[in-house]
Amino acid sequence: MKVLGIETSCDETAAAIVEDEGEGPGRVLSNVVLSQLDDHRPYGGVVPEIAARAHLQHLDRLVRQALDEAGLGLSDLDGIAATAGPGLIGGVMVGVMTAKAMAAVTNLPFMAVNHLEGHALTARLTHGVTFPFLLLLVSGGHCQLLAVEGVGRYRRLGTTIDDAVGEAFDKSAKIMGLGYPGGPLMEKAASGATDPGRFDLPVPMKGRPDCDFSFSGLKTAVRRHVENLGGTLLDADRADLAASFHQAVGDSLIDRCTKALKYFKAEFPEGKTLVVAGGVAANQVLRARLTDLCRRHKFDFVAPPLALCTDNGAMIAWAGLERLRLGLTDGLDFAPRPRWPL
Ligand code: KG4
Ligand code: ZN
Repeated sequence: MKVLGIETSCDETAAAIVEDEGEGPGRVLSNVVLSQLDDHRPYGGVVPEIAARAHLQHLDRLVRQALDEAGLGLSDLDGIAATAGPGLIGGVMVGVMTAKAMAAVTNLPFMAVNHLEGHALTARLTHGVTFPFLLLLVSGGHCQLLAVEGVGRYRRLGTTIDDAVGEAFDKSAKIMGLGYPGGPLMEKAASGATDPGRFDLPVPMKGRPDCDFSFSGLKTAVRRHVENLGGTLLDADRADLAASFHQAVGDSLIDRCTKALKYFKAEFPEGKTLVVAGGVAANQVLRARLTDLCRRHKFDFVAPPLALCTDNGAMIAWAGLERLRLGLTDGLDFAPRPRWPL
C-alpha cells in the first residue's frame, strides 16, 4: 500500500509518501518538508496567521514534489492522510481541505490523523517496533508517557502539568538570548560548556510516585540565573547554563521514565521497547541518557532518525497507512480538531 501524508499543524509544511512491506518497517518513498522558521524568527515564535498563509501558499507545490520524487501519480496511491489535529487550527484546515479535495476527485480513502499518533507510530515505520511499547513523546506542545497497545490504543501513564519539554527549551533559550527555535540552539550552546555543573537548577517532579512532568519551574530558575548575571550573558555563561539545563531536564526525564518502566513492565510483561518520539527526541544528550537507562533495564531503545523526529509528512502518511490497513478511514465531513488528546 502507498499513502500520501500531509502535515500542516505547526510551522512545517510537509508532504510525503510511504509504502508498507508486510508487517515490518515501511519505506519512505519521498519526504518533503518546508520549514517556515525564517517567517517566524522575527517574532520569536510561531505566529498562527502567518503559518496558515504559508501552508496555503506552498502545500500544492510540495504535494506535487512528493509525488514526483516518489515517481508516482495520484492513481498509484491507496489513500490520502492529513493531520486533522491537534495544532494551530488555520494550518490544520489547509492540510485537511487539501487532502479531502484530493480524496474527493480520486475516490481514494481519506484518513484524518492525530498528529500525536503520527509521532507515536513513527518507530514502526523506521524500525518495525511491535506492540506493546512504552513511548516517551516529547515535542513543543506535548510531553507524555504512553503505553502503546495498538493503533488507536494508547494508555496515558503521565503528562505534563504545565509546560511541555520543548516549550521549556524554547522559552529558556529566549530568556538566555539564544533565539528561536530554542531546542537545537540550546543543544549547540551546551556542547561548548566548560563547567556543566556550574548552575544549580531544580529537577522537576523527581521522586514523585506518578509519571507526570513539570517544566515551568525550570524555566523560572533559568530566568533567575540570568537576572543574577545582570541580564546579559557571555557565550561561556550561555554554554554552562545550557549544559546545566540539559542535566536537569535529563535527570527529570530519566526519573519519570524509570517510574513508567516499572508500571509498564508490571502491566505488559511481554513489552521490551522504549521509544522516544517528537521534536525533542532529536536531542543527542537526551538520547544518550535514554540509551543508558534502557541498557540498565534490559530494554531496547528506539529513536527515529532526526528528520523523522521533528514534524514531517512521512509520520502522517504512515499513521494513515496503519489506519487504512485496519479499515479506519474517515468521512469527508470530518471536522479538524484544535485539541485532540490521544
Ligand atoms: O515535534 P515537533 O517538531 O513539533 C511539535 O509537535 O511540537 O517539536 C518541536 C519542538 C520544539 O520545541 C523544538 O525546540 C524542539 O522540538 N526540538 C529540540 C531539538 N530539536 C527540536 N529540543 C531539544 N533538542 C533538539 N535538538
Ligand atoms: Zn510534532
